[in-house]
Amino acid sequence: MKNIILIGFMGVGKGSVAREVIKISEYLSLDTDDLIESMENRTIKKIFEEEGEAYFRALEKKVAMWLQASVTNTLISTGGGFYRQENLKEIGTVVFLDSPFDKIIKRIKNHPNAEKKLKKRPLLNNLKKAKELYNERLPQYTAVADIIIDVTDKSALECAKELLLKVKQDA
Ligand code: S3P
Repeated sequence: MKNIILIGFMGVGKGSVAREVIKISEYLSLDTDDLIESMENRTIKKIFEEEGEAYFRALEKKVAMWLQASVTNTLISTGGGFYRQENLKEIGTVVFLDSPFDKIIKRIKNHPNAEKKLKKRPLLNNLKKAKELYNERLPQYTAVADIIIDVTDKSALECAKELLLKVKQDA
C-alpha cells in the first residue's frame, strides 16, 4: 500500500483521524512531530524555544527524506507546516483535512485538554497571527493535496471512512 500523508492546520484533527484509520484498516501510523520529539528527546515547544523555528524545519526535512526512503503501508500525520516539503508527493498520497479557522479553534477549545493543546503549539500562541498563517496556507494546502476532506462537524470515524474510500478511488 502507498503511504497516506495527512496535512492540514494545527488542531484540525489529523491525529484523531489517523487513530481511527488505523483501527479500521491495515495501515500502520507515524506522526512527524512524534518522530522529531523522539529524535531530539525534547518537546516541539522546547525545540522552538531553545533552537528556533528554522532548526525545527530542518528536522522536518530530514524526516521527509527518511519517510520517502524507508516507509511504506503507513498513514503519516504531519505537523501543520510539513506540507512544504519538496518531496511530499514522493512520500505518498496527500490528504488535506480542511475546516474553517473558527471551527478549528472551537474544536481545540472544546477539548478536555484545551489548555495543554494550545500551550504545546508555539504558533497558536497568538490567535491573530495564527489566523494570518491559516489564510496564507489554505491555498497552498489545497494546491498540494491529492484528496481534500472537509472535516467540519464530522466525527473522526466519519472522516476516517471517507478518507479510506477516497484513497481507494484515487488509486
Ligand atoms: C506547526 C504545527 C505543529 C508543529 C509545530 C509547527 C505548524 O503541529 O509541527 O508546532 O507550522 O503549523 P500540529 O499541526 O500537529 O499542531
